[in-house]
Amino acid sequence: MTGVSRTALVTGGNRGIGHAVATLLHTRGHRVVIAARDGAEARSVARELGEGATAAALDVTDPDSVAKLAAEAGEVDILVNNAGVQLDWGVRPTRADLALVDRTLNVNLLGAWRMAGALVPDMVRRGWGRVVNISSGTGSFTLGIADACPAYSVSKVSLNALTVMLAKETEGTGVLVNAINPGLVRTRMRPDAPQTPREAAEHIVRAATLPDDGPSGVFLRRDAVIGW
Ligand SMILES: NC(=O)c1ccc[n+]([C@@H]2O[C@H](COP(=O)([O-])OP(=O)(O)OC[C@H]3O[C@@H](n4cnc5c(N)ncnc54)[C@H](OP(=O)(O)O)[C@@H]3O)[C@@H](O)[C@H]2O)c1
Repeated sequence: MTGVSRTALVTGGNRGIGHAVATLLHTRGHRVVIAARDGAEARSVARELGEGATAAALDVTDPDSVAKLAAEAGEVDILVNNAGVQLDWGVRPTRADLALVDRTLNVNLLGAWRMAGALVPDMVRRGWGRVVNISSGTGSFTLGIADACPAYSVSKVSLNALTVMLAKETEGTGVLVNAINPGLVRTRMRPDAPQTPREAAEHIVRAATLPDDGPSGVFLRRDAVIGW
């Protein structure tokens, strides 16, 4: 925790992990922008949180939507690239529907990339920023790439690569960019998972509020650096 109140933008902040992260950041005294595809859902969460929370409509697959948000959000110190989809399971890589791979990459990889392109240059200009990309163990070479969900796994491998590149680009600027593997979390994506979104949010919020001497370009799991 930096001890300073920052402005954080959470993509997919309307439900699941994103909702829990936005809520916890707000509880810790940060201003939060709840960004969600459905603007009404975003407004409902912002209302529920109260003062210091605002809402924005955002589809991370739509460059115009990203540009509009970046223009309207003001100075964003913390970006949590949380929006994600898992569209495949139990599919062999040779049988993968490449249109579905394309749709998955458009959200999980390009969505985060668009958001970074829109917000990170301004963080660099202001000399402070934190970016957390919500990745997954399915995209970890160290854990073993999960081949049962090829589109999802490849999107998270790619998100990890993007994380390293953004960290290299921002080295020495005051901006720290990291990926986190939250483990299995009980959301619409993983209804049977043991961990609550609130538990996962604790670690994500710590990654989003790292001190200035914190790591950049690493993969985190429960506050520890793990292999990619
Ligand atoms: N749950 C797990 O066990 C687990 C494990 C590892 C990693 N993760 C990652 O954690 C992140 C959050 O997942 P979750 O478990 O909270 O899943 P979730 O409940 O399904 O939430 C996904 C969120 O992403 C949003 N989203 C999807 N497509 C979008 C788009 N084009 N533009 C903007 N927002 C979009 C959804 O918005 P709508 O409500 O509009 O659909 C929703 O807010 C994802 O990146 C996921 O891959 C989850």
